[in-house]
Formats: sequence, C-alpha cells, structure tokens
Amino acid sequence: MKRQWWHGKIAYQIYPKSFCDSDGDGIGDIRGIIGKLDYLKELGVDIIWISPIYQSPFIDQGYDISDYYKIDPAFGTMEDFDQLLAEAKKRDMYLLMDLVINHCSDKHEWFQKALREPEGEYGKYFYFEKGKDGKAPSNYRSYFGGSVWEPVPGTDLYYLHLFAKEQPDLNWENPKVLEELFRMVNWWLDKGLAGFRIDAIMNVKKTEGFPDYEPDGDDGLVMCTRMIEEAEGIGGLFQKLKQETFEKHDAFTVAEVFNMKEGELEKFIGDEGYFSTMFDFAPLMAMAGGHGWYDAPGYDFFRWRQALMKSQTECGENVFYANIIENHDEPRGASTYLPEYAQNNDGTKMLATVSILLRGLPFLYQGQEIGMKNCKMKDIDEYNDIDTKNQYKIAREAGLSEEEAMYICFKHSRDNARTPMQWNAEENAGFTAGIPWMKLNPNYKEINVETEEKDSGSVLSYYKKLLALRKQEEYREVFTYGDFVPEMGAQEQMLFAFHRKKEQQDILVAANFGKEEIVLSLEKKGKMLLKNQEGVLIQENTLIQGNTLIQGNRLILPSCGAAVIEL
Ligand code: GLC
Repeated sequence: MKRQWWHGKIAYQIYPKSFCDSDGDGIGDIRGIIGKLDYLKELGVDIIWISPIYQSPFIDQGYDISDYYKIDPAFGTMEDFDQLLAEAKKRDMYLLMDLVINHCSDKHEWFQKALREPEGEYGKYFYFEKGKDGKAPSNYRSYFGGSVWEPVPGTDLYYLHLFAKEQPDLNWENPKVLEELFRMVNWWLDKGLAGFRIDAIMNVKKTEGFPDYEPDGDDGLVMCTRMIEEAEGIGGLFQKLKQETFEKHDAFTVAEVFNMKEGELEKFIGDEGYFSTMFDFAPLMAMAGGHGWYDAPGYDFFRWRQALMKSQTECGENVFYANIIENHDEPRGASTYLPEYAQNNDGTKMLATVSILLRGLPFLYQGQEIGMKNCKMKDIDEYNDIDTKNQYKIAREAGLSEEEAMYICFKHSRDNARTPMQWNAEENAGFTAGIPWMKLNPNYKEINVETEEKDSGSVLSYYKKLLALRKQEEYREVFTYGDFVPEMGAQEQMLFAFHRKKEQQDILVAANFGKEEIVLSLEKKGKMLLKNQEGVLIQENTLIQGNTLIQGNRLILPSCGAAVIEL
C-alpha cells in the first residue's frame, strides 16, 4: 500500500449551521469556525470536513445547492471562506468541502432553465421522462418518501429526484454536465482545498429505461436503491471524475458509499481506487430497518461487533476505511452504540477507545468529543429534518402511536446530531447570542466544552489523550499501519477487543460493554498506555480466597472499562 499524506491523521466533521454563530443570527457561520480552529487543533484534529456551505434554499440543509460557486450568505462570504482556508493552513490543517453532485437544487439556474424548456439544452442536464399510462415513468420510492418522479405542470413529463423533489438528479450521461461539474471541482481545488467528502455518489448511475420492479411496500413502490444496485458502469464515471479533477491536485477524497457490489473494495479505495477512502457504514447497516426507522432491530452488541470486525478484517492491508460512530445523518454514537447502563461518561470513553484505534482514518463528528447525546423533542414540529418528518409519517402509517413514533425519532432522527454545539453552560450553550435555529439539548449545562476542559476526568480530556496516543511518535506507525487482529479470548462475553500489530509491536485494545466484570488472560504483563477507569487493572500471579494462587497475567475490566496495553 502506498503511503499517503493523510494516513495517520485525525479528521473532524463540522455541521456549519450548528457549530458556532459569530454574528448572532442564530445560525453557525464561517467566522464561527475560524474562531474555533485553535480548539480543534488542540484536540488533535488535522483534517476538517465542512458540510455544505454553498448557496442553498436549505430544503435539505444545504445538500440542495443552487449555486456551486457561491457561499450562502447565512454562512458568510467568499472572503470569509478564503480566510478560513488561510487560517487552517497556518495551523497545518486541511480543509474538505462537501461535494454534492448527484443532484442540485430546483432553484439552480440549470433546473430553472430546464423547467422552462424541458426539451431544450438544459432539459438534458436532468432526467425528464414521459409518464406511462397516465402514471409516473416508474415505480421507485425516493429516499425521503413518495415517488422519485415529479410531474412538470402543463406537460406529460416528469423529472427524477432520488431525494426530495427540490433536489433534481443531474444527468451524468450528458458530457456537458460532467464538464460543468469537473470545472467546478477544479475551481475549488485550485483555491487550496485538500479535497472533498463526496455525497450520495452511488446514485449517479441509473439503470437505462427505468424499469419497474416488484413493489416492496403497501404504497406500490419499490425503494430506488433497487434500480441503483442494478445499474452497470458506475466505475467508468468515477474514473473520469478522478482523472479530470482529484488526481490532478493530489486531492484527498472520502466517499459516501452505500450498496457497493461485493468484491469491489480495492477498485473503490485501493492504491489506484476511485477515491482515497470511504466511510465504513457496515456497523450502521447492521442495525437498519427493512422499511424504515420504525422496524429497525435496535442495538445489539454482538451484531454490531461482528459487523465491525468483519469490515476491519476484510479491508486487510490494502485499503484504509474512514471510521465513524456518528455524522450529520445519524443519531449520536453515545446514544446508539451503548447499552442503556453504559450511557455514561465511562461508556462514552470506552466507545471512543475502540472506535478511534481501529485501522483507518478516524472521523469525529462535532460534539462527539464532549459526549453529546440524542435530544428529546416534544412533538414532531420541533424537528426540522425532512427525513425525520418522513420517517415519523411512515411510523404512524405503520400503526405506531404518537408516543411510539416520537420515540423512534428520538432514537434515529438526524436532528439528534444537528442540535447546536455545546460550548459552555451559559445561555444557548455559547453557540449564539441570538435565537438558535434549532433547539439545544438541555443537557448542555453539564455536557459542554468549557466545563469539560477544566475537568481532567471528562470525556473531552479523555479524547485528547486518546488522539494524542494515536499520534505519539512510538505508536503512530502501529496505530496507522499495524494489522487489525481480533482478540479471540472471552468472545462469548460483551468484550470488544483487538490487537494492532506491526513487526515487534503488539497493542491490545480491550473494552467491556457488559454489565459484569470481565477477566482476560494476557500473554505478557504489558504496559498500560491508557485506561478509562481506576478499576481497570493488570494483575500478576494473584492470591485469591486467601491462598489459591492464580498464575499469569490478567486484565481486569469492570463494566464499561477500556484499556490500551502495549504487550
Ligand atoms: C447524503 C447526505 C445527506 C443528504 C443526502 C442528499 O446522504 O449526507 O445529509 O440528505 O445525501 O444529499
């Protein structure tokens, strides 16, 4: 595997609307981000991914772009952005923008022109199709609910949108569209971006003719992913994109990839892959529902462990995943991947330990480092997210009561990750001097940066130690390039444990997600590099019950205990 500049770094996602508001309008902005660069640097962050800040009507929070060359005024100006780039550079930090090119906004000039003249030049930028027997051209359900086809008033045409109807899909079969997109990508890279996070990219290749499929729900529709999975030839498009843009700038790319075909991992993210890396969503998918959030099976430690272990072992030495426990589309990791009894500071630190030390590039999401949690809302109107409103509706239609449907939203809503960042215990958590665009999680009085900075036992202090350990001179190599080897002891218990091994170095990472203590035998006594609780101990030849001698070394892990040991 070729070594790359970004291996061994730490990445952090900013959701700009909710990060830090510098001008009191209740919405986070670029100047707010600039003001927090030192905080991020001190935390140990090298690479920053900012969710979309382009001009947008915000139907899907900026993932609907109406001008790719403009910064939305809610976030500031292009001068602010240039300053952000310069300030990041000064601190040896790298900036990634979000690249949303499967679709744009219906307010984009291209689509406005297309609507006026669907048969004209700009109509070919999108997918306009004739209806069939007075119905939509095919029976696909969009990601946000309802048909993917929206009728064009006064015509017999429909246009395609795999997401919201305000997010028309761009036609990647049209060379003009590719030309426009590539020009835009290069324009941003020329400015000095380090690269992009690439949104929803598996959707760019459609199955020709848009065939109908067997419906998978009572609405008579079938999830549009069925068509996407069938499409052939997406690799050719990715290859072009890479050659015409990223490759020329040695840019870093991290792709949002769902539904990849078996056995294609190296094609996607190997040395010559289409992208530098992609997120490992396997642990997340292991907990997804068949029809919606309402029928998701819920947290199961063993299923989660199995999914993660599988991706980690499968990726072997040749690819590098981007690892996450949360992002702007997911509920909080500390509320999702921990059993109820472990949803406390020890549990949060334990989850951090095992996820940050996996093989791959760790991506933190804003607030994860202080242990932010899901937020209870009183009723559906308190949610802003388009997907949450859709999932609430699905749950209600499936027969769930109001209370049950609200509980499902509390567990799964994307807004759980979108409540404002908690900077201090003062009004609005120091996020804004105005009225926040989105409700704050009331737990900000306890969970916030300022309070945690002063407490050496806080989640934030622990994250700092953990990130510093990953980058420490003697361990950087093994944590970056070391093999991932599952620890086979105590597998029947709720133990999540693995080794990172390189040449002579062997680091054991072990965490007890169970309620009862776990005792793990160790080949060697080893050196404790980090632990999250006093009670985590290495014992040698212990006398128990008065006089029975237990020989050998043992690692004692109380419930929610985590240890990093150099063997
Ligand atoms: C991606 C984004 C998500 C957005 C969708 C449509 O999945 O992460 O937030 O809603 O694409 O752009």
